[in-house]
Amino acid sequence: MRIVLVGPPGAGKGTQAAYLAKNLSIPHISTGDLFRANISQGTPLGRQAQEYMRAGQLVPDEVTIGMAEDRMRQPDAAPGFLLDGFPRNLAQAEALDEFLRDNQISLDAVLDLEVPEDEVVRRIAGRRICRNDSSHVFHVTGAPPKTEGVCDACGGELYQREDDSEETVRKRLEVYHRETEPIIDYYKAKGQVVTIPALGKVSEVTQRAMDALAAKA
Ligand code: AP5
Ligand code: ZN
Repeated sequence: MRIVLVGPPGAGKGTQAAYLAKNLSIPHISTGDLFRANISQGTPLGRQAQEYMRAGQLVPDEVTIGMAEDRMRQPDAAPGFLLDGFPRNLAQAEALDEFLRDNQISLDAVLDLEVPEDEVVRRIAGRRICRNDSSHVFHVTGAPPKTEGVCDACGGELYQREDDSEETVRKRLEVYHRETEPIIDYYKAKGQVVTIPALGKVSEVTQRAMDALAAKA
């Protein structure tokens, strides 16, 4: 299966992607996690991305599209993939369409996680992620780790993301409304969008998404 996950910052894309990718046996491809891994490894790509992420702005398409396509070309992505955080604007959606066409494959669904803005702000304020792997995500009250400050998955230290400050979150939400929301209409016109109400327990949201995918298949 090939799935795109969209939704505002803090909607729970990364959290849901981890479960969905496991259930569907496809890799979870998060451009945010790829950028963060590059930043912690100090690569040139990481250095290019860092200032944009700090400011809550999109990393330029020239950098992002190539990185996402390289990841989708890896052998583990041949049976399918779950994209989280990509595409994020119309130019990226068009580039993805071209990539799919060139490879004679197509998307099965675009899952739109719907969460009210006050809940998004609450989720981001309490988010803690792992120093070793930014896809290990927790919430101080909503999804707490077994031991405070310690990652359940690998024992790594948990910390608050640099771009999760109130000011940067406001900027990210603004960028989401302006740049990313238009891709939902783009995919609606192709009949590919399934809206998933994303309030409630993590497991309930996963079940809604799995049910929606089963209904679409
Ligand atoms: P990215 O890492 O993609 O961040 P984002 O889209 O802003 O999304 P988040 O990671 O903030 O939230 P999420 O929806 O994954 O929520 P999560 O599961 O963590 O991008 C970061 C930056 O990288 C961008 O600003 C940009 O600069 C750059 N970038 C990335 N991709 C790009 C692209 N394609 N083009 C250009 N630039 C790009 O959940 C949030 C919290 O809520 C967690 O604490 C979680 O535990 C908790 N939670 C989740 N579900 C529930 C629930 N049901 N109940 C209670 N708590 C819950
Ligand atoms: Zn970890």
